[in-house]
Amino acid sequence: MKTTFSIIKADVGGWPGHALVHPSLQEIANKRLLEAQRDKLLIDYHVTHCGDDLELIMTHANGVDSKEVHNLAWETFCEATEKARELGLYGAGQDLLCDAFSGNIKGMGPGIAEMEFTERKAEPIVAFMMDKTEPGAFNFPIFKIFADPFNTAGLIIDPSIHDGFVFEVWDILEHKNVMLNTPEQMYDLLALIGAKSRFVIKRVYPKKSSKLPADEPVSVISSEKLYQIAGEYVGKDDPAGVVRAQSGLPALGEVLEGFSKAHLVSGWMRGSHNGPLMPVSVNNATCTRFDGPPRVIALGFQLKNGKLTEPVDLFDDPAFDRIRQEALHITDYMRQHGPFEPHRLPMEDMEYTTLPNVMKKLGKKFKKID
Ligand code: F6R
Ligand code: MG
Ligand code: MG
Repeated sequence: MKTTFSIIKADVGGWPGHALVHPSLQEIANKRLLEAQRDKLLIDYHVTHCGDDLELIMTHANGVDSKEVHNLAWETFCEATEKARELGLYGAGQDLLCDAFSGNIKGMGPGIAEMEFTERKAEPIVAFMMDKTEPGAFNFPIFKIFADPFNTAGLIIDPSIHDGFVFEVWDILEHKNVMLNTPEQMYDLLALIGAKSRFVIKRVYPKKSSKLPADEPVSVISSEKLYQIAGEYVGKDDPAGVVRAQSGLPALGEVLEGFSKAHLVSGWMRGSHNGPLMPVSVNNATCTRFDGPPRVIALGFQLKNGKLTEPVDLFDDPAFDRIRQEALHITDYMRQHGPFEPHRLPMEDMEYTTLPNVMKKLGKKFKKID
């Protein structure tokens, strides 16, 4: 049986500011998705939040880009927006860029990470959700998980993954994609994805030599809004991603090890700063200090005929305490730079800027230098 695993997420109002999702919005989402499960549109679901993003995790048999599933997500976000307006939540409906649903939620504001695949006998799967950053924040951990033998021991010692994986990379400026095999094209891959505001890992596939179907993704990352608005900023697209694990894939622990660095990502305050990505429990997915620091949560499930077990909150674990400490140390260090790069993003990547006004104001005061 083929199952579709979809995460569709949107910021439809913050509580307070851009810190958190109000529980009443999650309640609405739970009610809507339960109805959809009763109507047999969904097989299963789980609603959660990361910072101010409402996250709908859904399983079904409709394939990716299903009009019905996207419509369900859209209507859920619209109802949650009404509630957000009623409660006076901050930035109500901020991620719903269009007024009417057109059949596909892509390009309308919400982020989507979804993939269809043949379930294995036992299917461990992890939903990663980030706040106050952009899809390129996934480049580093996804590369480490599927291509770095210093992260994933199995690439060296497990015959079932020793051949490596295939990465689908999107150029979000030129609206193009390219497939790259690792380890053969690892340097080409890194040359692209190191430029994380332009090149993003969209999907990872097994190789033809794998026992898994080579045309079914083993990982997918959201990137839709960036894709649609390439070249123009209307906000950072707090991303979500899905990674399958074990037997023929990196082990669960190798997947989580990809997040053991608190690497620097773009986003944070006003979508215009670099800061460390801090892995946290769902309970700690509240963006506070300087509207951050950027956070990632991980919910692990076993999947059976589309049914999800209860999630395990995988970063709710002292094994990640030191990484969080490191993230806080980096937070102090980066904050001390104030308005200076590389804490503040380079001009072309900033979501907010006063520079054109400053230049205009100073205009003639600028004198030519020889
Ligand atoms: C970053 C983010 C926040 C806001 C900031 C200013 O993605 O959402 O850091 O950019 O709080 O928000 P406004 O302009 O709404 O006052
Ligand atoms: Mg917000
Ligand atoms: Mg957000």
